[in-house]
Amino acid sequence: MGVAALALTAGAAGTAYAEDVEVLHWWTSGGEASALNVLKEDLEGQGIGWQDMPVAGGGGTQAMTVLRARVTSGNPPTAVQMLGFDIQDWANEGALADLNAQAGEEGWDEVVPAALQKFSKSDGKWVAAPVNVHSTNWVWANKQLLDELGIAEPQNWDEFVVALEKVKAAGKTPLAHGGQPWQDATLFDAVAMATGGPEFYEKAFIELDPEALGSDTMKEIFDRMAVLRSYVDENFSGRDWNLATAMVINGDAAFQMMGDWAKGEFLNADQAPGEDFLCFRFPGTQDQVTFNADQFAMFAQGSEVGPEQAALASAIMSPAFQSAFNVVKGSVPARTDVSDEAFDACGKKGMADLKAAAASGNLYGSMAHGHANPAAVKNAMYDVITAHFNGEYDSDTAVDELVTSVEIAQ
Ligand code: GAL
Repeated sequence: MGVAALALTAGAAGTAYAEDVEVLHWWTSGGEASALNVLKEDLEGQGIGWQDMPVAGGGGTQAMTVLRARVTSGNPPTAVQMLGFDIQDWANEGALADLNAQAGEEGWDEVVPAALQKFSKSDGKWVAAPVNVHSTNWVWANKQLLDELGIAEPQNWDEFVVALEKVKAAGKTPLAHGGQPWQDATLFDAVAMATGGPEFYEKAFIELDPEALGSDTMKEIFDRMAVLRSYVDENFSGRDWNLATAMVINGDAAFQMMGDWAKGEFLNADQAPGEDFLCFRFPGTQDQVTFNADQFAMFAQGSEVGPEQAALASAIMSPAFQSAFNVVKGSVPARTDVSDEAFDACGKKGMADLKAAAASGNLYGSMAHGHANPAAVKNAMYDVITAHFNGEYDSDTAVDELVTSVEIAQ
């Protein structure tokens, strides 16, 4: 039986579509795969055939490389998981299908927060459907280990360092980390927000102000990164983020600083928030949220958006799906009209924090996750942050390199 015939058979449960959707994504960890299954099953229930195109690599760096190759060879996938400025880059190249008619019919304008619409729309037209909002400035902790060592949730940088030191003295890994540029940058993002505060963050990472980039505050941020580096185990290099999460789950490490996709790993290991693990904001960023949103952009396959592409976008935007998916993924809904009822304590906090940060002007797109500046600038920042984290640059050199490489990348 051909693929189309299979799709038609599946369509017995609902509408049938002649074409499958081929979905390029980087959700390959245990927790991510569970969340993706919620989407797959939702579509299969509607008779939409799913061709999986996973590209492993947290943060999507490798996925974006594969996408470029596919588009260059004239064979773009139907739908692609994408972040912030990448959506804008592809829209500017004219590669994305226009979802405006459907967005109008389904009232997306009224329910998607403005901070997300900025990335979902190009020239006033919807070109992507947001599936979630992740926030990146979280710390995940092993509760039992913290209790044993008498460590309370650290409220600021100094308390965090005292806690890390206690864990080290007990012979455990204080900070579970994977040495990959996007993970180093995730750490840096939170340290920068905690050290410089929101105005500094905006100046340095969104406005790319050379003075902020070259400031004493930036040097202090790099100095703090060097402090964190001393609390990472010796095998950190190249480790995937979910393996770092596993170190916290197993009690080998006390803390991981990571976006709330990490929660998906705890849940996938049958751990409960407040009992087995703790979630709290990176010390010093309690009032701020740095966010990224996964969106699905549909690659233009002809002049109009395909029916299966439209069906995928509708499924993603449905309130019931946004609840079911994000409960598993660790993120929160990309719509403001979804109840927090089904969410656990970390999810409820995530939703409340997002709302409060948006209302008080403390919501910022994450630099590490493509929501503060375009990929070329982000990658230039990654290079400097990683070289410094690996000891190739001291803090003064890192500050100089940051200023220069950001200038060149623009
Ligand atoms: C982020 C993405 C998340 C999560 C993470 C690790 O870029 O937004 O959904 O998957 O990467 O892979």
